[in-house]
Amino acid sequence: MKILILHGPNLNMLGIREPGVYGNIGLDEINNRLVEFGKKLNVELTCYQSNHEGALIDALQDARNWAKGVVINPGGYTHTSVALRDAISAISIPVVEVHLSNVYAREEFRHKSLISAVCKGKISGFGWRSYLLGLQALTDLIEIERQA
Ligand code: DQA
Repeated sequence: MKILILHGPNLNMLGIREPGVYGNIGLDEINNRLVEFGKKLNVELTCYQSNHEGALIDALQDARNWAKGVVINPGGYTHTSVALRDAISAISIPVVEVHLSNVYAREEFRHKSLISAVCKGKISGFGWRSYLLGLQALTDLIEIERQA
């Protein structure tokens, strides 16, 4: 089973960027941990990061041709991007939203997500482990739907 892990803007700066909020671990290390966890779940991951809205939309559209689902951290686009929301709505595969930080414990503008309503669910506040939890939830969901 193939899954896309999609990281949005500024997540390439993890480890350097506000470590008190996002932790000390860089994106490559998070991806390595995800790939290792994916092996246990029997899933093959493709990890991609972009700072550009259009590139994220292209990746989502392309994923419908090869992936069974997507784990996405849309970064700041979570709170602003109608286009990203439309892209998620347009593809028929399940998408799980993840955030390293607890967005509800932060500034009010982070409390609103344009993405959540078109995702299967959302995990927020567990640092890099949010990604693992998101991947676990997504693969469970795919398996349940396959058996139904
Ligand atoms: C984030 C939360 C967003 O509000 C922020 O803009 C990010 C990272 C998170 O993972 O906690 O870039 O998505």
